[in-house]
Amino acid sequence: MTAPRAVVARGGDAGGGAAEAAGAASPAVVVTDVSRRFVRRGIGAGSARFVDALSDVSLVIPRGSRFGVVGESGSGKTTLMRLIAALDRPSAGRIEVQGVDITARTKKTEKSLRFLRRTLQVVFQDPMSSLDPRMRVGAIVAEPLQAAGRRDVAPAVREALQQVGLDEAALRRYPHQFSGGQRQRISIARAIAPHPSILIADEAVSALDVTVRAQILDLIDDLARRQALTLIFVSHDLSVVRRVCDTVAVLRAGRLVEVGSTSDIYAHPREQYTRELLAAVPTLERSLAAARVRAGWAGRAGRAGSVDGGSTGHDAAGKPGEHSSDDE
Ligand SMILES: Nc1ncnc2c1ncn2[C@@H]1O[C@H](COP(=O)(O)OP(=O)(O)O)[C@@H](O)[C@H]1O
Ligand SMILES: [Mg+2]
Repeated sequence: MTAPRAVVARGGDAGGGAAEAAGAASPAVVVTDVSRRFVRRGIGAGSARFVDALSDVSLVIPRGSRFGVVGESGSGKTTLMRLIAALDRPSAGRIEVQGVDITARTKKTEKSLRFLRRTLQVVFQDPMSSLDPRMRVGAIVAEPLQAAGRRDVAPAVREALQQVGLDEAALRRYPHQFSGGQRQRISIARAIAPHPSILIADEAVSALDVTVRAQILDLIDDLARRQALTLIFVSHDLSVVRRVCDTVAVLRAGRLVEVGSTSDIYAHPREQYTRELLAAVPTLERSLAAARVRAGWAGRAGRAGSVDGGSTGHDAAGKPGEHSSDDE
């Protein structure tokens, strides 16, 4: 029913030219006609045997850019990231990371993957499942350095912890002894310790409370700038992407719907799906304002339910006092 949409690639006339120019020579990632088909789990009578998680996706991620990938749950974002990180292989198509074809299976494969392990790191949504609970933080952060063949890892581990704002006492502690936000700092320290040139953050702040989310976003933003990283930032939340990304690609049901500069896409979404995504999210700013009101920071920001009640919760976010045109 849904005919394949033409990808609306936006030209350089509306800004975004800097990133294009910088990446034109040697992009960080080139994805060409990539598809990934899975055998459906738990096949029932009458249901399709396969899931086309990605269909004919092509995109270029310029070096040094902050590239956002958005789309509703199940649109194929994580599948695409796993392919780029060589944690999975495409059913068809080709992926190059810094000029190396990681989808080719030749004698050089192992060498390519070793290169990739050093140059590309991933931060996932849930630090509890990505951090080994039996390992101390020092060992967790050291692991990718050792995997990359580094010898004297202690200084690099200390440097990485410092960069994410954790002190040295953290080295000897275990993940469960930290809060959610601090655990995500540990994941980030682990990712940046080997000085990657590409950092993938897949829903890296989605599980965090709104104020912590803003802090971790700022940290990622700051690190990307200081280390001149190519940041690939995946989220279902467009307000988060807007804050850190210069370019956005929109995925829907495994297909690329549109891609362009963040300011352009947010100001003039060309596709109905993008407009719907934009309308569906409370802005991060609005959520932060609500959280401040709950915490009693804002003196005259209006009434917003319980002021010092439950400190968790995104429950009141997006609703207090403000008049918005979003119903529901
Ligand atoms: N290993 C797998 N086996 C079967 N189906 C999968 C697998 N991984 C993902 N899928 C399916 O592929 C689609 C895209 O999933 P995913 O990439 O995780 O989406 P997103 O990250 O955007 O939420 C979903 O329909 C999902 O159920
Ligand atoms: Mg996902």
